[in-house]
Amino acid sequence: MRVAFLGLGRMGVAMSRHVLIAGHDLVVWNRTPGKADELIAAGATEAKTPGEAADGADAVVLVLFGPDSVREVLPQVVRQGLLVIDSTTIGPDAAHEFGRLCTEAGARYVDAPVAGSVGPATDGTLGVLAGAAEEDWPDAEPLLQLWGDPARVRRVGPVGAGSALKLVVNQGIGVLAAGLGEALKLSSELGLDRRLVLDVLGMGAYSWTLNQKRSMVEASDYSGTQFSADLLAKDLDLAVSAARDAELEVTRAALAAVRKTLDAGHSGEDYAAVIGHLADEGEPNSH
Ligand SMILES: NC(=O)c1ccc[n+]([C@@H]2O[C@H](COP(=O)([O-])OP(=O)(O)OC[C@H]3O[C@@H](n4cnc5c(N)ncnc54)[C@H](OP(=O)(O)O)[C@@H]3O)[C@@H](O)[C@H]2O)c1
Repeated sequence: MRVAFLGLGRMGVAMSRHVLIAGHDLVVWNRTPGKADELIAAGATEAKTPGEAADGADAVVLVLFGPDSVREVLPQVVRQGLLVIDSTTIGPDAAHEFGRLCTEAGARYVDAPVAGSVGPATDGTLGVLAGAAEEDWPDAEPLLQLWGDPARVRRVGPVGAGSALKLVVNQGIGVLAAGLGEALKLSSELGLDRRLVLDVLGMGAYSWTLNQKRSMVEASDYSGTQFSADLLAKDLDLAVSAARDAELEVTRAALAAVRKTLDAGHSGEDYAAVIGHLADEGEPNSH
C-alpha cells in the first residue's frame, strides 16, 4: 500500500512512522519544510505539495491543526477513488462538509480523530473514534490499526460521529485542567501546602490529569509540549460552536481560562500551562 501523510506535527510524525514499520510505502508532506528528516532516513519520501503526495497513493491521511487547515489542504488532493482519512480534530460540522466534498469528487472520507497523545502515537496504541460509511470501513480499519490499539479502533457511526465524540472527550480534558488550576488557586488562598494538595488530589477526581501533568506544573515548565494549549482552545471553541443552542457555561469558562493562558504568553506550550497559570494567577511571580 502507498500512504500519503499530510501534516508532520507532533502527532503526524509519530503516527506516520507506523506505515513504514508495517512495510508500506510512505509519502509525507508538511506546510513548513524540514520536519521529515527522520522519516526520510527511515524510508519515507517527501513531497513538495499535498497533490504530489497524494498522487498514486491508495490513501491520504490528514493530521493538521483544525478545520481551517483541512479546508486549505483537502481540495488539493481529493480525487476519484481516493480513501481520505482525516485524523485532525475538526468537529462534526467540518467532517460533514469534508465528507460532502469527497463524495462529490468520487472519493471516500472517514473522520478518524485519535484519543491519546504523543506517547500512544509513538507506541501505536492510540484510540481511534471513526465516523465512516459502513462500506468504507473494511478499507479504513486496517489502516487505522497501524497507529491505533486494535481494541480501541472503533467505527462509532457515520461520517461526523467520530468528530462529535472527540469533542465530548476533549471537553472533559479542558474542564479538568481549568478546574484543577482553580482548585490549586483555592488551596493557596487557604494556606495549604502545594505538595500535600497535589498528593491528595492525585488520588481523587483530578488523578487522570495530575498523573500526566504534575511534573510540568511543579516545575512551572510547560515547554515539553504533548498537547498544546492552542489545540485545547481550538477544541473547546469547536465544542461551544457545535452545541449551537445548548449553553455550555462550564465549557465556555474553561475556554476563557485557556485563552487567558495563551494571552499570558503560553502559546505553543503544553496545556498543563492552563493549570499552572490559573493556580498562580495573582501571585507575585506569575506571568
Ligand atoms: N498532540 C496531541 O496530544 C493530540 C492528541 C489527539 C488529537 N490531536 C489532534 O491531532 C491534530 C494534530 O495535532 P499535533 O499535536 O500534531 O499538532 P501540531 O504539532 O501543532 O501540528 C499541527 C500541524 O498542522 C499543520 N498546519 C497548521 N495549519 C496549517 C495550514 N493552514 N495548512 C497546512 N498545514 C497546517 C502544521 O504545519 P506547520 O509545521 O507548517 O506549522 C503541523 O504539521 C490536531 O487536530 C489535534 O487537535 C492532538
